[in-house]
Amino acid sequence: MADMATLVVDGQSIELPVVEGSEGERAIDIRKLRSETGIITLDPGFANSGACRSAITFIDGEKGILRYRGIPIEELAEHSSFLEVAYLLIYGQLPSGSEFDSFAGSITSHTMLHEDFKRFFGALPKDAHPMAACSAAVGALSAFYPDSLDPRDPRQIEISVHRLIAKMITMAAYAYKHSIGQPFMYPQNDQSYVANFLQMMFSNPCEKFELDPVVEKAVDLLLILHADHEQNCSTSTVRLVGSSMVNLFSAVSSGISALWGPSHGGANQKVIEMLEEIRDEGITAREFVERAKKADTTDRLMGFGHRVYKNFDPRMKIIKKACFDVLENLGVRTKLLEIAVELEEIALKDDYFVERKLYPNVDFYSGVIYNAIGTPANMFTAMFATGRLPGWIAQWMELHEDPDFKIGRPRQIYTGKQVNHYVPLDQRR
Ligand code: ACO
Repeated sequence: MADMATLVVDGQSIELPVVEGSEGERAIDIRKLRSETGIITLDPGFANSGACRSAITFIDGEKGILRYRGIPIEELAEHSSFLEVAYLLIYGQLPSGSEFDSFAGSITSHTMLHEDFKRFFGALPKDAHPMAACSAAVGALSAFYPDSLDPRDPRQIEISVHRLIAKMITMAAYAYKHSIGQPFMYPQNDQSYVANFLQMMFSNPCEKFELDPVVEKAVDLLLILHADHEQNCSTSTVRLVGSSMVNLFSAVSSGISALWGPSHGGANQKVIEMLEEIRDEGITAREFVERAKKADTTDRLMGFGHRVYKNFDPRMKIIKKACFDVLENLGVRTKLLEIAVELEEIALKDDYFVERKLYPNVDFYSGVIYNAIGTPANMFTAMFATGRLPGWIAQWMELHEDPDFKIGRPRQIYTGKQVNHYVPLDQRR
């Protein structure tokens, strides 16, 4: 017998079941609330509302735990690869050797884009942000592949999932090449997923390109750490848009737009811009921290704070270590890393940040790595989006398999005018 919660409103009481997840987290199931009492709940920002049951990713924000399909992020970061993590998230378990080969082979064989796609990128202004280009390009896949859009046909889902993961790196790289006026580089399918991505971004037809394995490993790690994060803003967007029964490409395109915002994935670009501002304007880290404590939200300490993590972000710990390792291996010393370390030390001891439980998040050090390997700041969030793809896909698939599937449609508390009759133009004051 499930525990029940009793809610009393206007003298009327209603019993609501308490549901429990596999890690002991509990929720009051309010599905009957409105039909039995006429009232709804109000929860701006959904800080207290569960929108689904999910078996993909577990986070304990108080303890700093993150697991994909039960596997701790630390273990995946140390032993796995991005494509293996993608398989894990999408299919629910780690692949056998042959399953991995077949998955990776299928992804690799789909990396090329339809030639007409070049005109698509060519039509964008030169200074188009890569996230605008990626969101539009992923949405446009539904125009190029109308044969695989049915969200309830397993074969069509499989094809569109593989196409999306494969073509994302080509589209992200094309978006970048277009912005710097260089020719698009075709995928080289004898290379790993990450190596292929980096050669499409950084090689050109005139020079021999050699990829530093340190760089390849660092990007692979960053993609693993970004691969899923349960019901965050962009993932909830993918689920909400997907609940209208629209195809995968359109749902993920919306997720990319949501990720772009500076409060979400766009923070990685903002962090590096903040570090550069501190360096170039000659202000001290302490002065910037003081500025970030003022009410003006435009000067927040970017890369700090998280809705769920109130102790530490486990991804940040891994990235911080990788950041030092990568810079040392590349023999690069950067002032930006020094400033980041100083900012972190000051903020972690500052009452304002301590009281509000604000800790560095995944974006705080990731930009320093991307920067050190030569990635332009406006590509950081597109790299993040590439990493988050498997998570969006897995969550979209889970949504469609959910016995509780319903179109997402929140309610509201109306605060506008009551009946307010139309006044003809000549009678208006
Ligand atoms: N710098 C300064 N103050 C901050 C910061 C920050 N980075 N983050 C939160 N605060 C303050 C707020 O002003 C607020 O103070 P108040 O109680 O005096 O009004 C308090 O801390 C709580 O902040 P909220 O915005 O209510 O917290 P919420 O959970 O809604 O927001 C968020 C979380 C959006 C991540 C926020 O911490 C933020 O804007 N951080 C900077 C942007 C960032 O790094 N985003 C990336 C997040 S990770 C990701 O999405 C991949």
